[in-house]
Amino acid sequence: MHFQVGQRAAGNGALMRATTSAVHFARQGRDATMDATRRLAALTHGDRDKLSAMAELGPVAWPPAPIRTERLVLRESEARDRAAFIELFASPEVRTYLGGPRPRDELERAVPEVPGRRPGLFVIDLDGAVIGTISLDRRDAERPGHVRPDAGEAELGYMFLPKAWGCGSAAEACAAALDWFADAFPSEPVVLCTQTANNRSMRVATKLGFTEVERFEEYGAEQWFGVWSSVTPSA
Ligand SMILES: CC(C)(COP(=O)(O)OP(=O)(O)OC[C@H]1O[C@@H](n2cnc3c(N)ncnc32)[C@H](O)[C@@H]1OP(=O)(O)O)[C@@H](O)C(=O)NCCC(=O)NCCS
Repeated sequence: MHFQVGQRAAGNGALMRATTSAVHFARQGRDATMDATRRLAALTHGDRDKLSAMAELGPVAWPPAPIRTERLVLRESEARDRAAFIELFASPEVRTYLGGPRPRDELERAVPEVPGRRPGLFVIDLDGAVIGTISLDRRDAERPGHVRPDAGEAELGYMFLPKAWGCGSAAEACAAALDWFADAFPSEPVVLCTQTANNRSMRVATKLGFTEVERFEEYGAEQWFGVWSSVTPSA
């Protein structure tokens, strides 16, 4: 049976509210203009100093208990996931619309022992191996694309290893992450920005229920900016 997009992930439960100290980075898709050092730090660390321009996700218990879907587990990253992070950032296919691949030697030096450990970042585990990451971070107020006057919207990002493409895993995992977010931040919208040329990503966005807000040029490419809400608008 196929996973139904929008299906609630089992076992999420009500999340206790608690203030976290971690700080987030701008979403991975927009890193084309960041310098290499900051980019890597932003993608793999949770360091407040390096990421001073980025806003916290907000008060939320983190990490949640691992979230199980029909085939996958969404969980906090661990040291054993480091190779998968390096693979994701070194892959020309994965990084086609995300500013290009990073050199492996640079990644080996820069990626921390436990990469990506911060609120909002899930690794996606299939039978004990990481096949991708999903992030929910606050969108940088200075960037184009907003749905709230005060900006700082939660923004969904995702990267999966090519061997996992074409199986519905990204949609399945993102739907579960959105369910987690809706429990943690009731009524808050989630935004998503992707190059219009990124057909696979555009299909994922549509399947998840994101609707177009606007398109704009950024980093020399046309961007699709959409919004998702757990609240059904009243007729
Ligand atoms: C964007 C990305 C996550 C999409 O991955 P994906 O595997 O194509 O997406 P899905 O998980 O939704 O899988 C969809 C495909 O699985 C197929 N599929 C196979 N088995 C399935 C199942 N059991 N359930 C659902 N779909 C299934 C669908 O038919 C669909 O195929 P299609 O796209 O050819 O029509 C992936 O291409 C990626 O990581 N890209 C690099 C990073 C990136 O660009 N991120 C975007 C940031 S803005």
